[in-house]
Amino acid sequence: MTAAAARKSARTQDLTVVRLGRHLGAEIRGIDLSQPLDDDTFARLARAFFENEVVFFRNQRITPEQQVAFTRRFGVLEQHVRKEHRLEGYPEILIVSNVVNEQGKAIGVEDAGRFWHSDLSYKREPSLLSALYALEVPVKDGVVLGQTDFASTTAAYDALPESTKQRLQKLTNVHSYRYYRAKNVAAQKEEQARGARTVQEHNLTPEQLASVPDSEAPIVRTHPVTGRKGLFINEAHTSHVVGLPRAESDALRAELCAHIIKPEFRYEHRWQAGDLLMWDNAAVLHKANFNYDLPLRRLMHRTTVRGPAVA
Ligand code: SIN
Repeated sequence: MTAAAARKSARTQDLTVVRLGRHLGAEIRGIDLSQPLDDDTFARLARAFFENEVVFFRNQRITPEQQVAFTRRFGVLEQHVRKEHRLEGYPEILIVSNVVNEQGKAIGVEDAGRFWHSDLSYKREPSLLSALYALEVPVKDGVVLGQTDFASTTAAYDALPESTKQRLQKLTNVHSYRYYRAKNVAAQKEEQARGARTVQEHNLTPEQLASVPDSEAPIVRTHPVTGRKGLFINEAHTSHVVGLPRAESDALRAELCAHIIKPEFRYEHRWQAGDLLMWDNAAVLHKANFNYDLPLRRLMHRTTVRGPAVA
């Protein structure tokens, strides 16, 4: 059966949306993502997603095919530049994990989300949304570790004084994957120096790096679906604000990033195995917490939907 025929014959699922954060974050109940969703159910789900910016579905049992089929309904899926960490047979799935194979090599990206960022913001057409499916989560003494933090860039923009909004409207910033790699290496060295858990660093080939050139984008972006304005700048990928002296650029980036992650704009997700969580990269920043280590295992599958060029 084709995907379109499966959707037509699918039954309508009743969904309930339970809002969790003040500005973002909701649990969607009543949905089984292993079943094809009919167009009406999918439209309600998509609306709830864009309204809440971060949503999750508990107790899902889905195969890689089902994750790919579900997220593909939102648009074209990306294939991450870190080829070595794509799931075999599923180039659209990036493994995010601290698990190592028999040779002691990481099976997935271990350092994803060390800094606040939105996914693939360094691309000319950055990611619209990401979906992370939790297969294994680290738990110690009954406490779930490896939580993910989110912050709403739209609520943060709305809360800015009018004069700041006017000033930012004229500014652009450069998002750079090279800058991000260098920042990760420096963070790793600093972790080693203080004897903290060290997240493995993976060198990219010159070809891989060349496939992700820097890109310049407005700091204030308009959401391609909701039309809301939000701040498109982050500490991981923004190398500089265009046209400002270095010190001023660094200060503005630090000021805006600190503003976005204020507690009132935040939602923290405590994972359960079986969660499928989606976030809107055009409306939130996120950050992982590396507060666990082997033998505690964390294993996730991520799909990422391409968005339009930032406007
Ligand atoms: C990511 O940044 O895509 C991963 C976030 C996480 O693993 O918590």
